[in-house]
Amino acid sequence: MTPRFDDSSFTVAIVGCGGFIGSHLLDAVLERTRWRVFGVDLDFYRLQHRLNHERCEFLCADLADPAVVERIAQFPLVVNLAAICTPSRYMGEACEVIRSNYDHPAALAEACAKSGAWLVHFSTSEIYGRTSPDSGELIEDETPAVFGPVTASRWSYATAKLLAERFIAGLPGLRWTVVRPFNFVGPYMDFMPGVDGEGIPRVLANFSTALLRGEPLKLVNGGKAKRCFTSVHDAIDFLFALFDAGLGCTLGSGNETVSGAGCKTAAGAGHSGRDAVGVSKVGSAPDAGVFSQAFNVGNAENEVSIAELAQKMRTIFAKLRGVDVSSLPEPQAVAGEEYYGAGYDDSMRRMPSVAKAERLLGFRARIPLDTALEESLSWFVKHYDVAETCHCEEP
Ligand code: UGA
Repeated sequence: MTPRFDDSSFTVAIVGCGGFIGSHLLDAVLERTRWRVFGVDLDFYRLQHRLNHERCEFLCADLADPAVVERIAQFPLVVNLAAICTPSRYMGEACEVIRSNYDHPAALAEACAKSGAWLVHFSTSEIYGRTSPDSGELIEDETPAVFGPVTASRWSYATAKLLAERFIAGLPGLRWTVVRPFNFVGPYMDFMPGVDGEGIPRVLANFSTALLRGEPLKLVNGGKAKRCFTSVHDAIDFLFALFDAGLGCTLGSGNETVSGAGCKTAAGAGHSGRDAVGVSKVGSAPDAGVFSQAFNVGNAENEVSIAELAQKMRTIFAKLRGVDVSSLPEPQAVAGEEYYGAGYDDSMRRMPSVAKAERLLGFRARIPLDTALEESLSWFVKHYDVAETCHCEEP
């Protein structure tokens, strides 16, 4: 354990700690550090095994409450994972999606700017917008973004997230880092419709559900869109690399100026050098350090089309069940607007540039696609334990 993680007086606030990524982060903090956790969410079902942990305090609340926001910002490190992030909700609930992904994070950012907390804000790979099939690598500080028309409500989420990023980057005095996840997958992702959630979850949980129920996997617009699926375990390793670099500055014992890559900020990003966590002013250098930076977090080697993903998942499921893959229903194509409702649109390719995380943090995702899919699907099958609903034929 590095000294930064050995400090039992340090508390990290995790907003959205009951969610998919939050629950993995909470476990990792308890296992890899001596820190305390202040966890905020509206739902704690993924955290049953942690509810009485001596180093955890949980608050059932959301960021709509200004008193909650103030309280969270009193901790030196705040990770904000709270969001509505399932595409099926971007069409019918655009206003709620915008409140959750812009209004609430903006209020938290303002409170962190006042308190001096380091805000690690989870944004999305979707801020790169309506990419085309031949879009190249998406580079954090270079790639332009194009969105669909205002009638394509799909983009309510991406534009709210983008505005939140810009607000955060423009706030004087805020020490911030933005994370852009590229399709994280793993245990506890999303929900099973009709069991612990309603509507359409993201593709992995949706395909897993269909396989368990013996239904055809639905390929939206033929499944031509491509994604780079990234194991949640790689995502957690990224966060620890980030914490390690950033806290080299913010966990100083008193008034010393701490130098090193993690202490620098990107030029012109609105950082005033103000400090309320006991450390002297940080420096200012172009493209160095972990503050005032947005990072892609993804695995560029795991790119697959959704149609290929469906075949991979059918094969894994057949192996898990000991049946022949040909006994499982064939995937079916469905039109996007028919499936999700009017206003659906899509990004056709999302390939992250991973150079910045590698350069500034020495981080590179390692877990191959097949391993990540096998882990996710095996967990789903075991967790939901609905073998009786599977109508697949025996060989
Ligand atoms: C979603 C969110 O909007 C992003 O913010 C988030 O960062 C991202 O997931 C993520 O998990 O990182 P998207 O990748 O479009 O974006 O989400 P999915 O619902 O998983 O869809 C992926 C692709 O599969 C899309 O092309 C979609 O049309 C397709 N799909 C989805 C199907 O073909 N069948 C399904 O049953 C579900």
